[in-house]
Amino acid sequence: MECRLPEEKLKDLKAEVINAKKKGKKKKYVNSGTVTLLSFLVETEVSFLDYIKGGTQINFTVAIDFTASNGNPAQPTSLHYMNPYQLNAYGMALKAVGEIIQDYDSDKMFPALGFGAKLPPDGRVCHEFALNGNPQNPYCHGIDGVMEAYYRSLKSVQLYGPTNFAPVINHVARYAASIKDGSQYFILLIITDGVISDMAQTKEAIVNASKLPMSIIIVGVGPAEFDAMVELDGDEVRVSSRGRYAERDIVQFVPFRDYIDRTGNHVLSMARLAKDVLAEIPDQFLLYMRSRGFKPFPAPPPYTPTGHLLQTQI
Ligand SMILES: *[C@@H]1O[C@H](CO)[C@@H](O)[C@H](O)[C@H]1NC(C)=O
Repeated sequence: MECRLPEEKLKDLKAEVINAKKKGKKKKYVNSGTVTLLSFLVETEVSFLDYIKGGTQINFTVAIDFTASNGNPAQPTSLHYMNPYQLNAYGMALKAVGEIIQDYDSDKMFPALGFGAKLPPDGRVCHEFALNGNPQNPYCHGIDGVMEAYYRSLKSVQLYGPTNFAPVINHVARYAASIKDGSQYFILLIITDGVISDMAQTKEAIVNASKLPMSIIIVGVGPAEFDAMVELDGDEVRVSSRGRYAERDIVQFVPFRDYIDRTGNHVLSMARLAKDVLAEIPDQFLLYMRSRGFKPFPAPPPYTPTGHLLQTQI
């Protein structure tokens, strides 16, 4: 809010600048000049939560790596091992991050995608398939729904390759590009074993997405070298493609192995993972909203059941 002051008030806001030394020495000294306040600006610091309370929707999409380098899901050494008694690395990462994010996603319906698998019936390789088998409606109900669809996909698809990120990033970006009023923000969680095959296309996709209301979280599972992921993270050097730099940093990478608790306390490791994964999201979100001049909508008044009843009675 900018305030301009009316002329007649200006004389009250005029201050003399006095140099005490000069004043002491010279009798004729009045002042060394005056300072007048002509206008001032009041800016309110708004937070991530102010936007959420005001109704900005978080669209949280999950993308899971179904490439063969993860190992055969029937084998205990596989990152996709289907163990009825314990979550595998994908399951843990999904649950840890998803359960926190779902609190900010009002409808709790999550589109979930897979990439790098051969799909039935014809065995074609797909880099953006719906985990629930329904491309028209890829939504899963809550994180439990995503887990269920993930396990069902593991049983029906064939792990293959290569590991392409660009298709899922562009998939979410297409939706993010249609939101131009700050009413929605998109978070894509990619869980992968890390050996990325389409680095150039992925960088191009990230540079394009950096203009959109969108953030990307990459969780790397397994023992691979994650140098390429660190590069995409852009904390040290801003991601660029063909001479164009990303408008802002939108990627957060975390290696899951750093969070595996040696004592086997999975609850602890999941909580730590979620905390670090989500650390940069509010700043990335606010940077976008501020740069576009989107202010949070005022929060609706708290819901009061009695007031509502009274109104309908009248
Ligand atoms: C959320 O994003 C996904 C793409 O990842 C899209 O399928 C879905 O329609 C979006 N939901 C809304 C409400 O825009």
